[in-house]
Amino acid sequence: MADKDSIKVAKDFHLGETPEARGFFLKGSAHYDWGMKHRLSQLFNPDTGRTIMLAFDHGYIMGATSGLERLDVTIPPLAEHADVLMATRGGLRTCIEPSTKKAVALRCSSGSSVLRDDITKEVLAVDAEDAIRMNASCLAVQVYVGSENECRTIENLSQAVNIGNRYGIPVLGVVGVGKEMARTPQFFLTATRLVAEMGAHIIKTYYCEDFEKIVAACPVPIVVAGGKKIPEKDALELTFNAISKGAAGVDMGRNVFQAENPVAMIKAVRMIVHGGATAQEAYEYYISEKGE
Ligand code: R5P
Repeated sequence: MADKDSIKVAKDFHLGETPEARGFFLKGSAHYDWGMKHRLSQLFNPDTGRTIMLAFDHGYIMGATSGLERLDVTIPPLAEHADVLMATRGGLRTCIEPSTKKAVALRCSSGSSVLRDDITKEVLAVDAEDAIRMNASCLAVQVYVGSENECRTIENLSQAVNIGNRYGIPVLGVVGVGKEMARTPQFFLTATRLVAEMGAHIIKTYYCEDFEKIVAACPVPIVVAGGKKIPEKDALELTFNAISKGAAGVDMGRNVFQAENPVAMIKAVRMIVHGGATAQEAYEYYISEKGE
């Protein structure tokens, strides 16, 4: 029985050994069915194996927040530079044109708001029928490992994986950090692996020290959240470092839509994720575009 007291520190990540692709361009995805692979190919660019998810689902927990006061105004100019739109069903249905060609990461868990201290209490709010009706490319579900509501959020994830496997829809397991959890490499190593072992097809987490070990120990692709707004130069460095250490892309919100020039920012992020630019090259591009 695995338990807390007998944990030996993980240390051999075989960092020099690239896992075999085994017939599909995404890590860990070779044995999925056709529909699942087709959706993954919409979420990730098969040429680069990477993605830029534009996250604007923040209203599900924060309400109207800076940069997202009007989704119908803010999102369309940014969407054309993203691969995936990550949003709630309410945000999509009311504010985004259904003619969009972009893949959709549908926010499916909810249940808390920033008006409360503890945001970890969630349910699986979207059922299979509505996810299919929304033509979701993946189901996004928050998991709060180590929190008081850990079991409930793992149950939400497991239900979503059951739905996803039944209908060929990948699940994006979002590693949430409760207020009481420290953002340590050990926490992210535990949480990302646990969420992958529960069957999530993609993991979203935060960048941290020793990120390459977290990527190595996670059998499916990892995308990195931007987190709270930081200076544009720092956000581009975060993007570059995450990609360099094996992230398969970003799922970025506030550092795009709260940037001084959001369109220039997402284009700069794109240069790094799909174009192989350095952080410095992307920042110089951002500055030149911003000035126009
Ligand atoms: C968080 O509540 C949302 O799921 C966001 O999608 C996520 O935090 C990514 O956005 P940001 O880059 O602003 O952290």
